[in-house]
Amino acid sequence: MSTEKPKTASFVKTTHEKIEELERLNEEAMLGGGQKRIDKQHDKGKLTARERIDLLLDEGSFQEIGKFVVHRGKDFGIDKQKILGDGVVTGYGTVAGRLVYVFSQDFTVFGGSLSETYAEKIVKIMDMAMKNGAPVIGLNDSGGARIQEGVNSLGGYADIFYRNTRASGVIPQISAIMGPCAGGAVYSPAITDFIFMVERTSYMFVTGPNVVKTVTQEDVTSEELGGASAHGAKSGVTHFTSTNEATCIQDIKRLLSYVPSNCEEEPPALPYEVNGDEVRMELDEILPDNPNQPYDIKEVINGIGDKDSFFEVHENYADNLVVGFLRIAGKSVGVVANQPMSLAGVLDNDCSKKGARFVRFCDAFNIPLLVLVDVPGFLPGTDQEWNGIISNGAKLLYAFSEATVPRISVITRKAYGGAYDVMNSKHIGADMNFAWPTAEIAVMGAQGAAEIIFRKEITEADDPNQKLQEKIDEYTEKFANPYKAAERGFIDEVILPHNTRAKLIRAFAMLENKVDNMPRKKHGNIPL
Ligand code: HXC
Repeated sequence: MSTEKPKTASFVKTTHEKIEELERLNEEAMLGGGQKRIDKQHDKGKLTARERIDLLLDEGSFQEIGKFVVHRGKDFGIDKQKILGDGVVTGYGTVAGRLVYVFSQDFTVFGGSLSETYAEKIVKIMDMAMKNGAPVIGLNDSGGARIQEGVNSLGGYADIFYRNTRASGVIPQISAIMGPCAGGAVYSPAITDFIFMVERTSYMFVTGPNVVKTVTQEDVTSEELGGASAHGAKSGVTHFTSTNEATCIQDIKRLLSYVPSNCEEEPPALPYEVNGDEVRMELDEILPDNPNQPYDIKEVINGIGDKDSFFEVHENYADNLVVGFLRIAGKSVGVVANQPMSLAGVLDNDCSKKGARFVRFCDAFNIPLLVLVDVPGFLPGTDQEWNGIISNGAKLLYAFSEATVPRISVITRKAYGGAYDVMNSKHIGADMNFAWPTAEIAVMGAQGAAEIIFRKEITEADDPNQKLQEKIDEYTEKFANPYKAAERGFIDEVILPHNTRAKLIRAFAMLENKVDNMPRKKHGNIPL
């Protein structure tokens, strides 16, 4: 290779000069909005867009796409500030050896705001992810639409929303909110499958505190309005909250370990050998003798699953229903379980929506479902009725009924009324229905039932209390057990709690090649 400049024209660069130019441009792009803004980002306790990607992806695996893209804006002097990459770092790499696509918004460039070209970069990797069947992970840190670009920016957002929707159910889409996320910008994360937020440095809202103050006269901080704890516990918009960005990224990687790369694949499985740990005697000790005393369903979940494998979703929201991923014999399973420790495990508006969305995710991505049932019914009252318990409860019912993945239920204790039907009963297509000997499968609890059907007899008795107790005992003897349902075949087997894991390992293995297709249709009409 010649190092001499050609004599023909002084402006023609040598090969070395061209290589140096590329190196210089690469270095420039790495700095985003410049060192001062990077320092400011660090001062706020935040990482930069590139540091986040480095934490997320396997070392050295990141391949950037569109590093030299610049915006096409002309107004308000923005044409004089073109920054390589234009505020979003996009590309692909691997997590635990598996292909993922990633975009990471760079707050140091125009506050991470979204321009037309920035949107094009995101759209490009979303299209690639769809064609190649791999998850998209969005690391969001942005002031929203780039104000100087007007409708071009809004169009860019819509191009992303459209692809989020087309990709839904085809590839997993994961959003981490690591800074502001305001205005319409919240709607792309909202369409994705899972949202992660970081406490105290991220927030999401459609309108910020100033607009809230003007319209409703409410005084509220950004954190109160749309911080991680607001969305983790109150609205349920976010599925995971983390104390810092590093744990947030660790959690994203953990989530990926349970899910397949696309809807045509099976979820990844860890190697497993039968090793005598199927019998879990501790499961016999969890249920109290008094059926009205609570216990922690997570003890049952952990007692059934592979060691330390339970990864809870929506931990702080609607905790009367527990949902999350578990491994059983190395295989990924989605768990939906009533939690007797919270509201006695009753079904209400929030937990029905939470459960339905989780069931639909699992079904879309071939993750078998395990349902643990201890449910006294639906929560009564005006608050529930006026907020739509009819259609919200129906969402959960619909989600289970349309799920074609292997589905197994274990009734640990109560399965009363409509909630018995809803919680993955045999009648709505569950493949295997087990019950513990402690199960009570009936229209309602013994006291309520006795008070209704024996009211006359009780009030006319010499000792109404004694009569009531007699009738409660009679009803309990007759219905508060799993055997009536087992007689009818609605329960396939009444099992000993300590054998539950062994039974599930065999039943899930038996169902591994299950094929069940929905009737041909464009799409169903879930009661939204
Ligand atoms: C262009 C923006 C910007 C934006 C911030 N910047 N937001 N530039 N368009 N939307 C720039 C700032 O001018 C500043 O540039 C730099 O980013 C950092 O911003 P600061 O305000 O200094 O940072 P901070 O104090 O941390 O505040 C962050 C912020 C605030 C809360 C995000 O910047 C803010 O409120 N921005 C506007 C948010 C907004 O209203 N966006 C539009 C939402 S409507 P310099 O050069 O000084 O560093 C929307 C519609 C989408 O998004 C619709 C889709 C359907």
